[in-house]
Amino acid sequence: MDRELYRKLNEQINKELYSAYLYLSMASYFDSILLEGFAHWMKVQAKEEFGHAMRIYEFLNDRGERVIFESIDKPPSDFSSPVDVFEKTFEHEKKVTESIENLYKLAKEKNDYATEVMLQWFITEQIEEEKQAQEILEKLKKIEGRDYLLIMMDKELSKRGE
Ligand code: FEO
Repeated sequence: MDRELYRKLNEQINKELYSAYLYLSMASYFDSILLEGFAHWMKVQAKEEFGHAMRIYEFLNDRGERVIFESIDKPPSDFSSPVDVFEKTFEHEKKVTESIENLYKLAKEKNDYATEVMLQWFITEQIEEEKQAQEILEKLKKIEGRDYLLIMMDKELSKRGE
């Protein structure tokens, strides 16, 4: 495999693991303010991010490459409100989409068709990731200041499946 593409795929694994770490930090914030449904949603999200990292891990492994892990950055832990958390989530997912798109461009440049196909799954997944974060953010903005609606939303998010 092309060395630049290999290096960037390794970096993407790190970014996915950072995403898991970030969402766990957000889960911990929600647990601390007793919004356990929101915390549950973030824990499920963190598991999904771990799954994303593993997809690339297995892909590199199947291609006969060895994954090299780097340290994972410390995620933020100061959040001012649920709206703040979901603004950050949405912004983060937009950055991930950009990163996946750049990887896809590089795979195309390097004529690595297998990597292109593998990344197509991520491109579709990112549509969902951004949509989910944006929808929750918009709902939160609408109900701001009305705690009973926030509690109802917390119940709704507690139903997110694994
Ligand atoms: Fe792995 Fe939320 O993107």
